[in-house]
Amino acid sequence: MLERHTMPRYQAIARPCAEAVDLAKRVLETHPDPVMAEVGIGIGATSLALAQTLDKRGTLWLFDYDFRVNELQADLAGLGYHNVEIVSNSQRTFDSYGWTLAMLTRRCRVDQPGGMFDFIYLDGAHLYQYDTLAAVCCKELLKPGGYLLLDDYDWTIAKSPTMRPSQNPSVLTEYSEEQIELSHVEMICSLLLDTDPAFEQIPLGYRDVEHRRAYRKS
Ligand SMILES: C[S@@+](CC[C@H](N)C(=O)[O-])C[C@H]1O[C@@H](n2cnc3c(N)ncnc32)[C@H](O)[C@@H]1O
Repeated sequence: MLERHTMPRYQAIARPCAEAVDLAKRVLETHPDPVMAEVGIGIGATSLALAQTLDKRGTLWLFDYDFRVNELQADLAGLGYHNVEIVSNSQRTFDSYGWTLAMLTRRCRVDQPGGMFDFIYLDGAHLYQYDTLAAVCCKELLKPGGYLLLDDYDWTIAKSPTMRPSQNPSVLTEYSEEQIELSHVEMICSLLLDTDPAFEQIPLGYRDVEHRRAYRKS
């Protein structure tokens, strides 16, 4: 999978998320062996950067479709990064990381009631039907003091080069006009995170359009 980082057709997802790497470094200042997660790995650009930042310390958990996480785990192992755990789901229509996160959250309630992650980067489908449950679980899975970073705060189906109705008319039968026009991640943040006193927003330095949003759990 990592060989795709230099292929022109993958250019849009070949650069690591700088904010994720910055937050990972911040976590490492106080936790020598942190547990981090990336939900939605793409071609592994940020996963590789997180593995390099961890430099074989702690554990990196990766969530995505089975074919993606299996391939990336093997590639990272080939580079000497063996501290990678994968959680996979199938490609069935309603299967997703939301479900696998929910199963993990229920297990964590028993095994690690104080939470298991110091940092989670949530960067999956940015659609409410998957990401609402995922955000609920990420909140609970974070340890106190942990960071949650959500990608695509400004993303909408209407703006998406691949999903917008002109490119993909079937979205008109799948989503309402409101669901096409509004950002699902912004909706999730406003309902589940902005109003939760246990989550403090961490400024990321955006001047106008906010592309990502980060929180710290108290
Ligand atoms: C934008 S990419 C992630 C990019 C990556 N975080 C990075 O920084 O390079 C979104 C990812 O979400 C995953 N995804 C979307 N819907 C999913 C679903 N229902 N189940 C599992 N993974 C899903 C895709 O397979 C894809 O890898």
